Amino acid sequence: MSPSPSPTGPSVLLAGCGKLGGALLDGWLQAGLAPSVVLDRHRAPLPAPHRIARTPEDIPADFRPDLVVLAVKPAAAASVAEALVPWIRSSVVLSVMAGRTTAGLAEICGHDRIIRAMPNTPAAIGKGISGMFAGPEVPLAARDACKWLLHAVGAVAVVDRESDMDAVTAVSGSGPAYVFLLAELLEKAAIAQGLAPDLARKLARHTVSGAGALLEADTTDAADLRRAVTSPNGTTARALDILMRDDAWPRTLSDAVAAATARARELAT
Ligand SMILES: NC(=O)c1ccc[n+]([C@@H]2O[C@H](COP(=O)([O-])OP(=O)(O)OC[C@H]3O[C@@H](n4cnc5c(N)ncnc54)[C@H](OP(=O)(O)O)[C@@H]3O)[C@@H](O)[C@H]2O)c1
Repeated sequence: MSPSPSPTGPSVLLAGCGKLGGALLDGWLQAGLAPSVVLDRHRAPLPAPHRIARTPEDIPADFRPDLVVLAVKPAAAASVAEALVPWIRSSVVLSVMAGRTTAGLAEICGHDRIIRAMPNTPAAIGKGISGMFAGPEVPLAARDACKWLLHAVGAVAVVDRESDMDAVTAVSGSGPAYVFLLAELLEKAAIAQGLAPDLARKLARHTVSGAGALLEADTTDAADLRRAVTSPNGTTARALDILMRDDAWPRTLSDAVAAATARARELAT
């Protein structure tokens, strides 16, 4: 479980308030963000003292955020960074954009005070986990400010090597999709056993979310939790004999994560 963020957060200039930026902002507002500005064309006005800027011209010239957060699509990064030069120049930049490396970002930002983070979609309900990498030029205070922001929407895992962000992307960035697939397949398998679709859906969803909640509440190894519900020669054991064959889940999940890691590496710019 992540510790609660302290009541006083950093100030940010958030560029992009779509699915991820919006989820982050909601968490930050609840946690007590310092007076901040959000550059977004659609987001409803924010409670004072925060403010929305519809264009860079609306951002107060004397605003000095602790962090400029880039949460636009990777393809928009260069044009947005260019428009925000007056604020980026004197600030530390936190990018949550997939595949944008600190070297590539340093080129478009004009300095190397860059932090990369990879949150995942459970951040929308405060249950995310974010991988984070900070370049050597990032001051300690800015690292702490970044951790505060990420803790406001879940847990944080700091990596020391930027190359590890590719595997982080493959495991926790893409990971919610794997779990949703499990819920989807369990529902289909339940229907195949003759259960009504509504009942199949209810059983599958609650099983996945309940098992996830148990994993969060109990720090016992996942393998021990599995063993605890597996009686010798029982029903679970019969199913696990199939799922745990070398060529079944152990192989396919490992191959899937390796493929996602390789794709993250290919996309890195
Ligand atoms: N969604 C996730 O689960 C997730 C997880 C990890 C990382 N990420 C990363 O987060 C970033 C955002 O993803 P998303 O899913 O949140 O995308 P999204 O919903 O499309 O949000 C992007 C936002 O950026 C805004 N934007 C683009 N150009 C702008 C500009 N010049 N000025 C102001 N606002 C601008 C867009 O507004 P308009 O609609 O007006 O263009 C939109 O609101 C991506 O780089 C992605 O790699 C996402």
